[in-house]
Amino acid sequence: MGMIWVFNGPNLNLLGLREPEHYGSHTLAEIHQEILRIANEAKINAECKQTNHEGVLIDWIQDLSSADFLILNPGAWTHTSYAIRDAISAVKVPVVEVHLSNIHAREAFRANSVIAPVCIGQISGLGAEGYSLAMHYAISYQKSLGKT
Ligand code: DQA
Repeated sequence: MGMIWVFNGPNLNLLGLREPEHYGSHTLAEIHQEILRIANEAKINAECKQTNHEGVLIDWIQDLSSADFLILNPGAWTHTSYAIRDAISAVKVPVVEVHLSNIHAREAFRANSVIAPVCIGQISGLGAEGYSLAMHYAISYQKSLGKT
């Protein structure tokens, strides 16, 4: 049975305190709680994790099974990490990239995601709701493939 994983990268543990004008006022714990509520309602397994260490995130991605689905906010690694991109390519797990802020409407360096080309799609700028929308997509994707 497949699992929906939600991985958050560096500095996202500071949500709620960190630049609320960009990232809103919800804490990561609140976002994770809402994700688990949605999963529970759909009777699907989900788990949420955050790390500030790139190698840890790579290990988590390598451990995914082909029945899984990943919702990923790679934080600043979005713009820099070929290693995370290669890990996603290696495991062939469906991934949706999520950003709280609109990365296309901020500093020029944020507009480029090296991760996006190996994802199904990207949700950017919808705040915490972006994770909920990604969850609904992941649930229907998993159900359509009979992975639940
Ligand atoms: C972010 C956008 C990134 O550019 C930034 O480095 C983050 C958060 C977002 O969710 O909007 O850490 O991924």
